[in-house]
Amino acid sequence: MKTPGEKPLDGKIALVTGGSRGIGRAIAVELAGAGAFTFVNYVRNKEAARETLRIMENRGGEGSLLSFDVSDSDAVQDAIRGITEEKGRIDILINNAGITLNGIFVRTKPEVWDSVMDINLKGVFNCCRSATRYMMKQRWGRIVNMTSVVALSGNAGQVCYSASKAGIIGLTKSLARELGPRNICVNAVAPGFIETDMTVSIDDAGRGKVIDQIPLGKTGTPDDVAVVVAFLVSGKADYITGQVIHVNGGLYM
Ligand SMILES: NC(=O)c1ccc[n+]([C@@H]2O[C@H](COP(=O)([O-])OP(=O)(O)OC[C@H]3O[C@@H](n4cnc5c(N)ncnc54)[C@H](O)[C@@H]3O)[C@@H](O)[C@H]2O)c1
Repeated sequence: MKTPGEKPLDGKIALVTGGSRGIGRAIAVELAGAGAFTFVNYVRNKEAARETLRIMENRGGEGSLLSFDVSDSDAVQDAIRGITEEKGRIDILINNAGITLNGIFVRTKPEVWDSVMDINLKGVFNCCRSATRYMMKQRWGRIVNMTSVVALSGNAGQVCYSASKAGIIGLTKSLARELGPRNICVNAVAPGFIETDMTVSIDDAGRGKVIDQIPLGKTGTPDDVAVVVAFLVSGKADYITGQVIHVNGGLYM
C-alpha cells in the first residue's frame, strides 16, 4: 500500500498519447515511476502498449491502456471523458503522438500534408480541447506538447512535419497565456535527434552528418526527454509555462 505524498506525482492522473514505444513509452514509465496513475494511449499496436504497461508495473507504477486515434476528435473526447469518469479527474496530459512523412517538397502530395497535420497538430488540439475542460474546473493542470528541433531550425525534406511542429509551439504559447489564470501550465519539449523507431531508418551516413553538428557528439535517448517532461509536470516547475525546452545535445541553440 502506497503512502500518499511519497512520490512527486502521487495521486495525479496522467495521459500519455502514443505511449506504446519510443519517447512516449519512456515518459509513461517515468510518470508512473513518479507516482502518477498513467493512461498509456496507443492506436494500433496493443502488444507494444502492453509492454509499456509491464515495464511501468515492474517498476512499481500503476496505469492502464487506452486506445484511440488522436486525430479523431470524437474518440479523443470519449476517451478523456472515460478517464474522468473512472478516476474523477485528469491532471497531466502529454501530447507525444506524432508521425513523420518525409520527402522532397515538390513531390509532396496534399494528402501527406493532411495526414501529418491531422495527427501532429490537430491531435494536440483535440487532446488539449477535451482535457482542459476538466483541468479548468479542477483549477490545476499540466500539459506538455512534443515539438521538435526542426520546428525552429527547419529541415530539408520535412516541410509538413516541421510546419506541424512549429504550429504546436504557437498553440502551446497561446494556451499557456489563456489558461495561466486557471493554474494550468502548458509547455513544449523540443527533442533533437533521439534514437527511436522514428529515427531508426536514417542510415549511418545521415546519422553521422547530424552527430557532427551536435556539440555533445552523440544522439539522445528517450529517457533524456522523459526526465525533462517529468520535471515539467512536477511541483518543481510550478512557475514555468509557455516555454519550449530543448533536449538536443546543443544541436540547436
Ligand atoms: N525521435 C526523435 O528524434 C524525435 C525528435 C523530435 C521530436 N520527436 C517527437 O517525439 C514524439 C515521439 O516520437 P518517437 O521518436 O518516440 O516516435 P515513434 O514513432 O517511436 O512513436 C510515435 C508514437 O505515436 C503513435 N501515434 C502515431 N499516430 C498516432 C495517432 N493517430 N494516434 C495515437 N497515437 C499515434 C505511434 O503509435 C507511436 O507510439 C513525436 O511527436 C515526434 O515527432 C521525436
